[in-house]
Amino acid sequence: MKIIMLGAPGAGKGTQAKKIAEQYGIPHISTGDIFRANIKGGTELGMKAKSYMDQGQLVPDDVTIGMLLDRISQEDCKGGYVLDGFPRTIPQAESLTEALNGRGEKMDYAVNVDVPDTAIVERMSGRRACLSCGATYHIRYNAPSKENVCDACGQALVLRDDDKPETVQKRLTVYHDQTQPLIEYYQKAGILVTVDGTKDLHDVFADITAVLGA
Ligand code: AP5
Ligand code: MG
Ligand code: ZN
Repeated sequence: MKIIMLGAPGAGKGTQAKKIAEQYGIPHISTGDIFRANIKGGTELGMKAKSYMDQGQLVPDDVTIGMLLDRISQEDCKGGYVLDGFPRTIPQAESLTEALNGRGEKMDYAVNVDVPDTAIVERMSGRRACLSCGATYHIRYNAPSKENVCDACGQALVLRDDDKPETVQKRLTVYHDQTQPLIEYYQKAGILVTVDGTKDLHDVFADITAVLGA
């Protein structure tokens, strides 16, 4: 199964993508996580991405598209994958469609996790992220069992650099300008599913699996 997660920054794409990946035994591919891992590792890609990310801007398509297409060509993607944070622009979506067409493949679902802007800023300020394994927590809604320690891998949790309120506002503006048009793109493609992302995260997951099939 090949799934795309759509939704505003902080809608819960990563939270749900991790659960989907576990349930269906497919890799969770987050372009944001790949960039953050590269920043942490001090790579050239990471340095390039950081300047955009810290300002809430998108990393340019010419960097992002090649990186993602490489990733989904790897062996572990043969049985499908869940994409989180890609595509984020119409050119990214078109490149993905084209690349898959070339292999006689297509995406199965684009899951739009719908959350209004008003709920986003509060979610972001309470988020804690693990930069080692990509797990995400919330100090109130999804707390780790030990404060500031990742349940999955034991590393320390951090507040992401781009989760400051003013950067979150910028990311929301960029989302509405550049990413929201993908909802119509995938509706036209006939694979769009919209779920109410304001529900409890377990209920959101139940709504998603009801559509995907258990
Ligand atoms: P990325 O890492 O993808 O960030 P994002 O899209 O802004 O999304 P987030 O990770 O912030 O939110 P999320 O939807 O995953 O929510 P989460 O599950 O954590 O991208 C970062 C940057 O990288 C971009 O700004 C850009 O610069 C660059 N980039 C990445 N991909 C790119 C691309 N394709 N092209 C160009 N540039 C790219 O949940 C948020 C919080 O809410 C958590 O604390 C969570 O615990 C909590 N929560 C989740 N669900 C619920 C719920 N139902 N109820 C209550 N709380 C909940
Ligand atoms: Mg995320
Ligand atoms: Zn971790």
